[in-house]
Amino acid sequence: MSVDIDKAKACFEAEFGVAAETVVRAPGRVNIIGEHTDYNHGFVLPMAIEHNTVVAARRRSDRTLNAFAANMNRRAQASLDNRIRNDAEPWIDYVVGVADELDKLGQPLHGADLLILGNVPLGCGLSSSAALEMAALCMFESLGGFRLEGAEAARLGQRVENLFLGLSTGIMDQFISRCGKTGHGLFLDCRDFRYDLIPVAFPGALFVIANTCCARGLTKSKYNERVAECGEAVAAMTAHKGAGTHLRDFTLDDLETCRELMPDTPFRRARHVITENERTLDACEAMRLGQAERLGALMNASDESLCRDYEVTSFELDTMTAVARSLPGCFGARMTGAGFGGCTINLVAEAQAESFGQALMAQYTERTGIQGELIVSKPGGGAEIVK
Ligand code: GLA
Repeated sequence: MSVDIDKAKACFEAEFGVAAETVVRAPGRVNIIGEHTDYNHGFVLPMAIEHNTVVAARRRSDRTLNAFAANMNRRAQASLDNRIRNDAEPWIDYVVGVADELDKLGQPLHGADLLILGNVPLGCGLSSSAALEMAALCMFESLGGFRLEGAEAARLGQRVENLFLGLSTGIMDQFISRCGKTGHGLFLDCRDFRYDLIPVAFPGALFVIANTCCARGLTKSKYNERVAECGEAVAAMTAHKGAGTHLRDFTLDDLETCRELMPDTPFRRARHVITENERTLDACEAMRLGQAERLGALMNASDESLCRDYEVTSFELDTMTAVARSLPGCFGARMTGAGFGGCTINLVAEAQAESFGQALMAQYTERTGIQGELIVSKPGGGAEIVK
């Protein structure tokens, strides 16, 4: 389900009257397991999807970014010398934020006419924003003739979120958008950025992504609240143990020992993160061995922990995962991404995938009154310059 590159080129020409000089693309992602662990220096296991954001661009002689978002039919301009947020056209912030971070690194920046065209579903937890950031980065790299190394590129995208946009996110989304590989999931250690590509090749099983089509209300404030709650748990355990900076540094035993030293909420947040790290390591082994049943059970356990301890699911997400688990051929189902709405990921027997999808959509609508959406994608490749 890649975006049509020829269509992006044609749209660029129609808008700017000349041919694009470079065309780049970057994918969205779905997280298989390892949720809300990245900013705790833990483990994640996402895969890139075949849905992409494409940017076609041409250098300008001045310092202006002149952008056209074709999907939305919106236009915006920004100056490379005055890199501020644009409340009226917030989508351009991702491009300007990337320019801002590149400028801090002293990389050469060129003004450009640029066209953005994409098919990563927006605002449903499949990282359309990371895809735009990584596509914008590829564009600046291509026009400026430089290249950042894997983790550097992803860290830059994370700083755009943290510093330019004020969201305390981790590094997972940008990392997988940049470094994903066709046919593979990516296991990442978010402390030292070492990663391993693991083939997604279950005999007779595949991933089905389903969208609750429910807006993710208050994601920003609730996300930052979770980050702060993890910090509270760390502070209590560090004071007791005399060491440790992130939840990654503590075991369940450490947490139990410190139970009385923190309120119940940070205790439960920490319990989710510590157990989720364990599940993610187990899940990698299950993926390597092609064990669908084992991975499915880990996905179910992850979802329960996200619901009970981390409290980032919603009525719609819980309904969709409950329906999924009741259907024939389902090995496991969980919410994916930040939560509070958005998508689920399901591991399903290939022979039953079609009937699973149909029944999931029908029963979800019956119970919620909302029309859901199936998103079909194999594991896709990471960001690249295509022309
Ligand atoms: C969002 C963030 C990621 C990660 C997930 C939750 O997608 O951007 O860094 O924290 O939520 O796992």
